This record gives sequence, C-alpha cells and structure tokens, in this order.
Amino acid sequence: MLYESYKIKNFVLKNRAVMPPMCMYSADEQGYANDFHLVHYGSRAIGGVGLIIQEATAVSPDGRISIHDLGIWDDSHIPGLKRIVDVIHQNGAVAGIQINHAGRKSKTENPIAPSAINYGGDYKAPREMTKKDIKEVVESFKQSARRANEAGYDLLEIHGAHGYLIFEFLSPLSNQRDDEYKDGTLFLKEVVEAITSVWPKEKILAIRISAYEYVEGGVTPKTISEAINSVKHLGIDIVDVSSGGNIQVKINAFPGYQLDLAKMVRRETKLPVMGGGLITDLKLADHAIGSNRCDLVYFGRVLLRDPYLILNHADDLGIDIEFPEQYIRGKK
Ligand SMILES: Cc1cc2nc3c(=O)[nH]c(=O)nc-3n(C[C@H](O)[C@H](O)[C@H](O)COP(=O)(O)O)c2cc1C
Repeated sequence: MLYESYKIKNFVLKNRAVMPPMCMYSADEQGYANDFHLVHYGSRAIGGVGLIIQEATAVSPDGRISIHDLGIWDDSHIPGLKRIVDVIHQNGAVAGIQINHAGRKSKTENPIAPSAINYGGDYKAPREMTKKDIKEVVESFKQSARRANEAGYDLLEIHGAHGYLIFEFLSPLSNQRDDEYKDGTLFLKEVVEAITSVWPKEKILAIRISAYEYVEGGVTPKTISEAINSVKHLGIDIVDVSSGGNIQVKINAFPGYQLDLAKMVRRETKLPVMGGGLITDLKLADHAIGSNRCDLVYFGRVLLRDPYLILNHADDLGIDIEFPEQYIRGKK
C-alpha cells in the first residue's frame, strides 16, 4: 500500500510516503530561503517521497522558533519559497508548507502566549496575549496563507501541534485565560476562517496536531478530535497526527508509537490522517496503511540520513519502483 498512489482533491501523490516538516534553522536572520533549502527538499523529491511538507515557516518575526527559521511574513519571501516549490514539483512530488507561530516557545525577544505560563528550561516567560495581539496573529496567518498560494504550494499545513501557539490555546495546561479564548477552539476557528478566506478550495488544507500530551490534564485523542471536528467543516482535508511538545516530559517512543493516536483521530474525525513516529521499516509503514491506522505515513529523521529511502527500499516490499531517469544506472 505504501507505494500506491493517493488522490486528494485533484492532487495525486505517487505514493503514501511523506516527508514531515522538519526545521533546519538554516535561513538568514530575515527568514529567506537559500541554496541549502533547494538541495535539501530537492533531494527528497528526487528520492521518491510523494508529499514533501516544508518545515515550520514563521508567520511573523516574533512567531519564529529561532532567528534562523524560514519566514513567510513578507511578500519578499515569495520568490525564494517559489524556488523550493519548483524544485519539488520538477522532481515529481506534491509540495506542502507548514506555517507556524511559535508562541511561548519562540526564542525571540518577546514571546507571547494565551497565558503567561513559562514553558520552562531556558525559555523566557511569555506575555499573555491581548485581543489586539490575537487579531494581529490571525491576520498574519491569513497573509501567510495568501503568500503560500502565490508561491505555488499545493498543500498548506497549519501547525497546531508541539506546544506552539495554536496548540497552547488548545491545551488546558497552557491556556488558563478567563475570557472567551479560554475555549482554545475559538482561536483555532478564527485562524482557519482567515486562512480559508484566501487559500483556494481546490488546494489541500492540513492541520498538524498533538493528539496526546503524556501528562494528566492535557489533551487526549478525543478532546483534540473534538477541536478538529469544530473546524473541519471550514475546509480541513487531512490531519497530520503527532504528539507531545507542550510540556517537558519523557516520551516512551518506539517504532510507530503514534500510529494508534492517528487511528483514533481518524476514527473520531472521519478525516484522512498522516501517521508516523520513529518509522524506519517500510514494512511497518505498509502495514500501518493496510490496517487502516493511517492513510499516509511520514518518515522524519530517517529521511535526514537517507534521502533515497523510498527508492532504495522498495524491494523490501517486493516493489519494482521507477527510478528517476538520471539515476537508472544506479538501480540494484
Ligand atoms: C530536526 C527536526 C526538526 C523538526 N521540525 C519540525 C517542524 O518544523 N514542524 C513539525 O511539525 N515537526 C517537526 N519535527 C517533528 C517531525 O516532523 C516528526 O514528527 C518527528 O521527527 C517524528 O518522526 P520521525 O520519528 O520519523 O523522525 C522535527 C523533527 C526533527 C528531527
């Protein structure tokens, strides 16, 4: 199943393998893409990955995780991003981008968050967002979505996971407001509405969420699915299921450790899902799809060490994959 194509809207992924967003912290301090990004994303596209989702790209300078994040807060970012899209397309993959505001996990000067609760470690204490801040951030998501469309991305992924701003609103552990935004789905709804006012209906809209926090009082697959269900009618096409990141806690990770979370979110939301986590064995990925735990599988760190994973290991599943023409003489 891993090597079967997958149709979503009018896009056909040539297989079910996804490169999930992975921050490379390799942009300059103004957030512009450079040659590293072209080689990095281009080689995974040549390597046969069906869908590439570009790393968390900041919707505002203060929304950066680090000062070396890629940025999409200004129209001048569009040409550099377009080059990434083009290299992905030229090599046969569908091009996605994750847009993010880092909230209290921003290492910039003045982090903001739903509540003034510190993430811990060497993170600064955030300032509680005013309603004006909320409005501005919603607008920055909207303008970023517009730019992502102009750059040519096929899929836009809202980063609603890992303890960044949207997730901070969703988790009772980081949202202790006493106004209407105490219901974290309100902020999510405003962000999704703003995005769908500019992101074309023909293109794919994804959301990444953490389906579990591994501590009492945090979100669960059920509560997070309820949050997704409250916005899915606005136009969410697929959910990218991850976990953790809002509270510093040790996670017992093993190959496929988040697949059951993906399955639960899939069941509760009735939306297609991407699942993964420490998957390096393509047989496990194939089985995850075959057993309906997820529709697409993401391969993160393994793709950092082996950009050609999908080409090199098709024969583990008895598949004869088509190599890029230039590389045919390298086929085993
Ligand atoms: C270097 C690195 C950077 C990451 N950056 C992001 C990111 O920008 N956005 C995100 O949602 N997840 C990020 N992640 C999480 C990955 O997308 C993925 O969910 C995680 O690594 C688990 O998959 P894996 O075990 O196959 O690596 C990052 C992971 C790594 C290793």
